[in-house]
Amino acid sequence: MTTVNTSVESKTLLAVRNLKMHFPLTQGIVLQRTIGYVRAVDGISFSIEQGSTLGLVGESGSGKTTIGRTLIRLYKPTEGQILFDNQDLAHIEGEPLRQIRQRLQMVFQDPYASLNPRFTIGSLIAEPMHIYHTGSAEEIRERTIELLRVVGLRPEYVDRYPHEFSGGQRQRIAIARALSINPEFVIADEPVSALDVSVRAQVLNLLQRLQQQFHLTYLFVSHDLSVVRHIADRIAVMYLGKIVEIADRDELYTAPKHPYTRVLLSAVPIPDPVVERKRQRIILSGDLPSPVNIPRGCRFHTRCPMAQAICREVEPAFEAKEGREHYAACHFSDKVEQELLG
Ligand SMILES: Nc1ncnc2c1ncn2[C@@H]1O[C@H](COP(=O)(O)OP(=O)(O)OP(=O)(O)O)[C@@H](O)[C@H]1O
Ligand code: SF4
Ligand SMILES: [Mg+2]
Repeated sequence: MTTVNTSVESKTLLAVRNLKMHFPLTQGIVLQRTIGYVRAVDGISFSIEQGSTLGLVGESGSGKTTIGRTLIRLYKPTEGQILFDNQDLAHIEGEPLRQIRQRLQMVFQDPYASLNPRFTIGSLIAEPMHIYHTGSAEEIRERTIELLRVVGLRPEYVDRYPHEFSGGQRQRIAIARALSINPEFVIADEPVSALDVSVRAQVLNLLQRLQQQFHLTYLFVSHDLSVVRHIADRIAVMYLGKIVEIADRDELYTAPKHPYTRVLLSAVPIPDPVVERKRQRIILSGDLPSPVNIPRGCRFHTRCPMAQAICREVEPAFEAKEGREHYAACHFSDKVEQELLG
C-alpha cells in the first residue's frame, strides 16, 4: 500500500530585497547631462511561495511593469537583490543569467504589440525553444502543436499569422509561447486589460488551470483589484515606486491597513445589490506625483484623506500589522477602517 503525503510544503521561489530601478533623466542632445532620476521602483521587498500567485496592484505609472521587466533582467537594477531559487539575478550576467532566465517568463498586456505580425504563430511559439535548443526541429514542432492544444487553440492554426486571431486568442498564443520552455515563474503584466470583458474570464481561467497543471508561480499585475481578487493568494499594493501594503488576499479586502488600499477597494463593485447601494466611493484628489520628484515624508501625503502634519515630515516604516504576514507603511494604519469607512 502506498502512503500519500498530503502535507503541502511551501518553499520561497522568489525573494526580492530592497529592489530599486532608477532611470537617469538626461538633458542635452550631444553632451547628455544627468539632471535627475525617475525613481520608478524605489526600494521594494516581497517574496512569493512556489505554486502561489502574488497580485501586484496600483494605478498607472506606479512602477508595476518596471518591476516585471527588472525581475526578468530586461533592466539592470540600480540596487537590491532578486533571489530566485536562492540565486541573485540582480548580480549575474552572461551565460549563468541566460540559463536562469529560461525559468522566468513574462506575458505582456498588449497581445497585438507583443506578437511579431510577420511570423506564423507556430514559429512564434517555437522561437524560445529554438533559442534554448530544447530539442530537434521535429520535437519542437510536436511540442508547438501540443502547446496549442494546451491553451485551447486548434492545432491546424499552427501556420496562420497573428492578424487572423482575436485579442483573446492572441493572448493564448502569447501564453503558449511563454510556457514553451517550461518556466517555473510567470509574470503576467495586465494580461486581460486589453481584452473584451467577455473573454477576460476565459483567459483568467486558462491561467489558473495552467498554474495547477504545471505547478507555476505567478506575479499577476493589474491596476484593478477586482481582477486580482479571483486569482491571487496574496496581494501587494504599490504607490509611486513602493509597496505600501501586502497581505493575504482576504485579509487585504476585509481589513486593509493603508488608506490607499482602502481607496482602491472603494472602487471595486460589490455583487450584493443591497451592500453595493451603500458603497461609498472615495475619490482621490490630484494626480499621481512624478517619480522624479517624490514627496518627502509619506509619499502618499499629497493625496491622502487621513494625512496629518507628521506625514509630511516622517516616512512611515513598512512594518508588520496584526494578521498573518500583513505589512503596511502608514503612521495611522489602525485608524484606516474607522476613518474611511464612514
Ligand atoms: N525606460 C524608462 N525610462 C524612463 N522612465 C521610465 C521607463 N520605464 C518606465 N518609466 C517611468 O517609470 C514610471 C513607472 O512606469 P511603469 O510603466 O512601470 O508603471 P505601471 O505601473 O506599469 O503603469 P501602467 O499601469 O500605466 O502600465 C512611470 O513614470 C514611467 O514613465
Ligand atoms: S502615513 Fe499619513 S499620509 Fe501616509 S498613508 Fe498614513 S495617514 Fe496617509
Ligand atoms: Mg504597466
